[in-house]
Amino acid sequence: MRCLAGVLVAIAATASAQLATRDWPQFGKSPSFQSYSTAGPSASPSHSEWTFNAGDRVVASPAVVGDMVYAGSDNGNIFALNATSGALLWAYATGGPVRSSPAVLADGSVIAGSYDGAVYHVSATGALLGKVQTGMSVYAPVSVANGTAYVGSMDKHLYAITIDGFSTKWSAQATNVVNSGTAVSADGSTVYFMDYSGIVHAANAADGSIAWTASTGPNGAGGSSPVLDNRGTLFIGSWSEHAFAFNATTGAQIWSFDTQGEVESHGAWVDGTVYFSAEESRTLFAINARTAQPLWQWSGSSQELNGSPTLTPTLVFVGSNDHSMHCLRRSDGKHLFAVQAAANVFASAAVADDGWVFFADNTATLDDIRAQNSDMMVAAERCAGDADCALAGARAVWSRSLDAERGSGRLGNVYAINPSLHL
Ligand SMILES: *[C@@H]1O[C@H](CO)[C@@H](O)[C@H](O)[C@H]1NC(C)=O
Ligand SMILES: *[C@@H]1O[C@H](CO)[C@@H](O)[C@H](O)[C@H]1NC(C)=O
Ligand SMILES: *[C@@H]1O[C@H](CO)[C@@H](O)[C@H](O)[C@H]1NC(C)=O
Repeated sequence: MRCLAGVLVAIAATASAQLATRDWPQFGKSPSFQSYSTAGPSASPSHSEWTFNAGDRVVASPAVVGDMVYAGSDNGNIFALNATSGALLWAYATGGPVRSSPAVLADGSVIAGSYDGAVYHVSATGALLGKVQTGMSVYAPVSVANGTAYVGSMDKHLYAITIDGFSTKWSAQATNVVNSGTAVSADGSTVYFMDYSGIVHAANAADGSIAWTASTGPNGAGGSSPVLDNRGTLFIGSWSEHAFAFNATTGAQIWSFDTQGEVESHGAWVDGTVYFSAEESRTLFAINARTAQPLWQWSGSSQELNGSPTLTPTLVFVGSNDHSMHCLRRSDGKHLFAVQAAANVFASAAVADDGWVFFADNTATLDDIRAQNSDMMVAAERCAGDADCALAGARAVWSRSLDAERGSGRLGNVYAINPSLHL
């Protein structure tokens, strides 16, 4: 058994060396959540743009590795699609909506959480490899670093799961539901996440002990994932209508920036600039990462922005509740084009190595999603750590989803677009 485990570790180590730097294997692209791809728009499109209908809302952001795109849907499936054709390769059925953005390993296997409370590891061909049960629904995206998958649960814990053997290494207690993603420091030693009390936690990757906590204000909360730059700064947005920079080593606040609206998305960072989208102000901000001086802002969407921005050397992509994926020029925020979707675009864009961009739409009635999420929090609170009670509560919440909307067959599309066809 020990010998077998050793072989598996060796395979995993080899496999992880094979992930191309230009793949987009998880939400935010890398464990720093930088959300920056070096891929430029491809000049000669080798195939057609496509749309795949998942049959129900796609809240999670897709991942792209090699020739495969991965997505989750409210109908409980984790989907693997052919990135070139959009053809369905396989679907793995979990026991609840999959709003947890998947993380893909170099061997093509995928890890994602489900509203049934479990975190799944599914092989490149769609077979179950492992499963870890948490005490409540899992909404948070999965981050993978150093052979460990990190994912928050509505049971108010962050889980560190050893991928080899797929078992819980530790879980860290937070003050509230953990729906944010987990950012991991470049040396792998510290992991950062936020909970629904708006508290940012820095945990020791070795044992989950908490090194520091910091508040994003009395009205702070939400699912914004932390973003790390290369200087030891952590950026995060919050429902307190601000974006923040904290010292990642000490937790000391460096600046706060008034976004004039709640921030549910995570920031994106490159070249000394951090980008945040905000809801009520319907604005995307480009901010100097050191000084918080705004460089430009774009307010051209007719509805709230709650998708996280995605960066390339020249472009910024941001999804909007106006049923569009918008593309701006990164240097000055000039609006370049919008791609029309069938519903709100919450999933952020994943950019493949050939410049193709993948995103998804979820719902026409965002209020229903918000009501569901808040009912889920109430269920988590009422059950006070009783996992069976919590999961029964979660099942009751998600089963009374809007059937009419779900049955329309319009929502829950995954889109593959080539920016060079729109510029
Ligand atoms: C994806 O589709 C392309 C074009 O139809 C095909 O050449 C390729 O073999 C497919 N790849 C997989 C993994 O199915
Ligand atoms: C990476 O994982 C290995 C194996 O679990 C562990 O020994 C090592 O300390 C980890 N590295 C960091 C920086 O946490
Ligand atoms: C974080 O704080 C440490 C200790 O005060 C300091 O040395 C470091 O420069 C700070 N980093 C940032 C990004 O402010």
